[in-house]
Amino acid sequence: MNSLEEYKRLIEDSITKYSSGTEPENLHNSIRYILNLGGKRIRPILVLMGYGVFNDHVERALHQALAIELFHNFTLIHDDIMDRADLRRGHLTVHKKWSEPTAILSGDLMLIKAYELLCDAPPQLLPPMLQAFNTMATEVCEGQQMDMDFEQRTDVSEEEYIDMIRKKTSVLIGAAIQIGALRAGADASEAGLLYEFGVNIGLAFQMLDDYLDVFGQSEKTGKVEGGDVLNGKKTLLFLHCYRHADEQSKNELLSIYENRTSKSNAEKVLAARELFKVTGSDKYLYKKAEDYYHIGVNLLKSADFQRERIKPLLTLADSLMQREH
Ligand code: IPE
Ligand code: IPE
Ligand code: MG
Ligand code: MG
Ligand code: MG
Repeated sequence: MNSLEEYKRLIEDSITKYSSGTEPENLHNSIRYILNLGGKRIRPILVLMGYGVFNDHVERALHQALAIELFHNFTLIHDDIMDRADLRRGHLTVHKKWSEPTAILSGDLMLIKAYELLCDAPPQLLPPMLQAFNTMATEVCEGQQMDMDFEQRTDVSEEEYIDMIRKKTSVLIGAAIQIGALRAGADASEAGLLYEFGVNIGLAFQMLDDYLDVFGQSEKTGKVEGGDVLNGKKTLLFLHCYRHADEQSKNELLSIYENRTSKSNAEKVLAARELFKVTGSDKYLYKKAEDYYHIGVNLLKSADFQRERIKPLLTLADSLMQREH
């Protein structure tokens, strides 16, 4: 299997066929809803690609791929409650379309179903796969709490920000490849190297997500434009701008982030964009994202894998740097 489209098709087919159950309808329909809203399917594709580094029969890792996509969508449903987000993939979020209790519960069930699918593998492979999954899932919770704690702070350091996005986002990207590799019988060091590649491209991935939140178009991202600004998220854009703005701009930035202004939401986002551009914070973010992308790619290229076998991973990583959604 070579092209990204082929990997994507395999994933889409198995998601279309997937059902968590039927009754009560509100619970299972909300799961079907989020899973069928689309999405880039990066993480399940990475599971298959991780498997593909060692074995051509990537369809054997489909249940693990599905497990990772279920887990991802579970985190999105809960994240949208935490982030007060009304839109996801261009449609109403689950808690808006149904209710917060249903969103909490459907997320919970998706986590359980993720474990079920993950464990559909030869028994000797389960201990390392479960360990990788549990370590990752614990860190995602920690990262999400840090993300929310940082909303109340302005003194977040860049190191703290990197640590936060590593936990909330990058470890899942890393674990997706790692679990695919382990499913193929890779040893801990091979799988660990692939994990490190994933973590580094995952850092770049979250930085670009933060960029697109502010500078992207809602029609493409499917999210509310500038949601991070309105929620006081301490992204690299804010941190760099806050450090480099003159006194007046700094006050304006704070008045937007702390909601001490008569500006409408749209005006706040426009003003924040201007401040980020004036201080070059957009360029700074892009450069940082590229740095982590290169660290990841170099790590993978210098490892002992045949170039043909890692090509899909490199192609995907490259496409993630070009994305507009
Ligand atoms: C969104 O992930 C959550 C982040 C970690 C930034 P994606 O951008 O991969 O979302 P989908 O699955 O493609 O919608
Ligand atoms: C999401 O980060 C990370 C997790 C869901 C664990 P964001 O909050 O930036 O993701 P989006 O922008 O809502 O997709
Ligand atoms: Mg969030
Ligand atoms: Mg969010
Ligand atoms: Mg975001």
